[in-house]
Parts: sequence; structure tokens; C-alpha cells
Amino acid sequence: MEQPKHDLGCIRRPVRFETEAIVRAAKVGTARSEVDRDKALEIARDLYASLAIKDDRLATDAAALANAFVDAMPGRLVRLRIDVCDTTTCPKFHRDHRHMRLVTTYCGPTTQYMLKERGDRVFDASLWELLFFKGANHPTFSQRVLHRSPPMTCEQRRLCLVVDC
Ligand SMILES: [Fe+2]
Repeated sequence: MEQPKHDLGCIRRPVRFETEAIVRAAKVGTARSEVDRDKALEIARDLYASLAIKDDRLATDAAALANAFVDAMPGRLVRLRIDVCDTTTCPKFHRDHRHMRLVTTYCGPTTQYMLKERGDRVFDASLWELLFFKGANHPTFSQRVLHRSPPMTCEQRRLCLVVDC
């Protein structure tokens, strides 16, 4: 990710467990907090609890990802956000005004992105895949990747996690 030509990093992960029932029972909304490395799990549990999700496996995953981000970005303020949504939130392809953003979707339609060198093709992330986007504030961001929230049809729900700095 240090090289200018790499605005996007992808790490595929297997689906560790199904989250559909958890997300169906959750409250639609957004929960966010700054990440304190020593309290990441507690913070993640509280964020999920505020969305009526009490699943320690999800909180553990969120805390591990948030802490990995803290370790990889020394000196930067890291924020964690969890979204349960049932509508399209950011329908236009865009870049974020951030240094770096990690997005992963556990349930529902996944984040979409376009790569400059691949023309108009729209890529869909896999469930649980980690997408690392350089943002517009990153010194070597080269405008080669844009992303958006996926279109949602009625009845669909999405659970995604965002870590950014
Ligand atoms: Fe975005």
C-alpha cells in the first residue's frame, strides 16, 4: 500500500459463521467510537450492543481488526464504525476524505468498487473480505479506485464494519 499504484488492498477471508439471523434481529443504525487499544473489545461489544447485537464473535473480530489498524498506523486516531442498514447509504462511486479505510461486510450486499485500469467494470467484495482503501488524504492516493455502498432491495439488510484513520 506504500506504492502509488496500489490504492486498494484486498484480503479474502472465509465466512466464519452466518450472521443473517443476528442481523435480522438487530436494530437498524450506526454505532461509532474512537478506538482505545486496551479497550477495543469492550468498545466493540458496546457498539454492537447499541445495535441490539450481542455476539462476542463479531465483537472479537471487530476488536482484532481495529487493533491491527492501530498497530499499523502508529500515531493516528483510529475510528471504528458498525452499520446495520436496510437502504442504500452511499450510492455514488466516490473516494473517502480519509487517510485509510478498512471495510468489511458480514451480511447482505457487499461494498462495490471500480479500478481505473479496468474501465467500467464494477467489482463486488466477498462477504468477510477485508478491503483497504487509501483515501484522498493519503499522500500516495492516485485516484485509481472508487467505491460505493451496494444497491439494496427492500427486505435486504446489511451489516458492515468500517475502521478508518
Ligand atoms: Fe466511502
